[in-house]
Amino acid sequence: MSNDFAHLHLDNTLYDLPIITGTTGERAIDIRGLLRDTGCITLDSGYMNTGSCQSQITYLDGEKGILRYRGYDIADLAENCLFIEVAYLLLTGELPTLPELEQFKYDMTKYSLVHEDMIHFFDHFPPKASPMSILSTMVGTLHDFYPEMDLDEDPYGGITTTTARLLSKTRTIAAFSYKKNMGHPLIYPRADLSYCANFLHMMFDRPNMPYEIDPVMVSALNKLLILHADHEQNCSTSTVRLVGSAGVRLYPSISAGISALWGPLHGGANAAVMRMLENINADGRDYQKYIDLAKDPNSGYRLTGFGHRVYKTYDPRATIIKKTCHDVLKTQKISDPLLDIALHLEELVSTDDYFIERNLYPNVDFYSGIIYRAMGIPTNMFTVMFALGRLPGWIAHWQEMNLDKESSRIGRPRQVYTGIPDRPFVALADRC
Ligand code: CMC
Repeated sequence: MSNDFAHLHLDNTLYDLPIITGTTGERAIDIRGLLRDTGCITLDSGYMNTGSCQSQITYLDGEKGILRYRGYDIADLAENCLFIEVAYLLLTGELPTLPELEQFKYDMTKYSLVHEDMIHFFDHFPPKASPMSILSTMVGTLHDFYPEMDLDEDPYGGITTTTARLLSKTRTIAAFSYKKNMGHPLIYPRADLSYCANFLHMMFDRPNMPYEIDPVMVSALNKLLILHADHEQNCSTSTVRLVGSAGVRLYPSISAGISALWGPLHGGANAAVMRMLENINADGRDYQKYIDLAKDPNSGYRLTGFGHRVYKTYDPRATIIKKTCHDVLKTQKISDPLLDIALHLEELVSTDDYFIERNLYPNVDFYSGIIYRAMGIPTNMFTVMFALGRLPGWIAHWQEMNLDKESSRIGRPRQVYTGIPDRPFVALADRC
């Protein structure tokens, strides 16, 4: 391979494939002309090694455990920023100035309500409806209630205002879905509260029992949302880009992303971790049984919260979440047996050859549920929390995809057909 080209030798012909180098030195072989030049496609099931776009939003080095949004290290952002500052950063490429942040906050407050007619929808979901299906449905429906906000160009203020509206309304929908699930009256947002404090207020305030907003919980929630805010071309973000590439507007594209996130291998893993830890507890803490099951190739069982498609070292988000988890439980004087189980499981896994050889470390979902539990958020809302965090990333990618002529071409993978090549038609009367 030369510095600028990879050479492909196929059917006695040598093809030069350009090398594209990213700003941090990672290299990609450009195969965009391959089909035209050779008649061949590439096969890469699960997109293990396929770059679907060039992006300026998030940098991730899975070998070194680096994650940066727009060039800023995730640890610095989690320590020093508000979630909405990070949302602004992902979206615009720059951290907001004070006036920009004030305007963003103002928009969040101004647009935090959802149309009262939408609230009737909540009444018609079955009582045990999943908050993820409610969220996905409601966010898609915003397109119909606020069509002016979902046009090519938002007439009221462009993408930052649209984002503020979507972030704010989605937070309201998420909290309302919990209240409906509980059969409690809805609690409306307050203009004086920050994004995270407002969410906790809408979740836990009751007419007869006012909720005291705890700054420790607000700070922990703020960190969790920042750590989930983007993760480049993951399954749900790729879904948002793919759906958006067909010309679908922002809200239904985000609704599709929410559905993709729901899966237990993706955003649904945080809830699955809690179920796993609870099962281990109920099983007399028989850790080895679960470890052995996960190592058995025929069981189909996995230790949820371990492993990642990209990270082959400790997930940098998990490092921060683990520490936050300890801090929250300590300052709140909460003793949660599930934390002890999680810590012990991690310890056992970290010395087990099966997990070492496969680079399986705790991921973002392993400790986050224990913090949500300490906040009083029920397990069926965990993936909704992930979705709230991921929202700015999805919007930023949808916008980037639309602005970039190359990556906004309709997404359309190829396939290698392995079915029956060709056969004569058999009429119904002759089929036996
Ligand atoms: N427990 C046991 N074995 C595992 C696990 C696990 N959690 N994860 C991967 N492996 C094994 C897998 O069986 C395979 O072994 P072998 O080479 O012998 O066949 C090897 O490790 C590689 O696994 P893979 O399935 O090829 O890896 P992948 O990149 O396709 O999957 C993953 C990544 C995250 C889906 C997977 O690690 C997994 O299922 N983890 C558990 C679910 C989970 O925690 N998901 C949250 C991911 S982080 C949040 C997000 O990004 O959404």
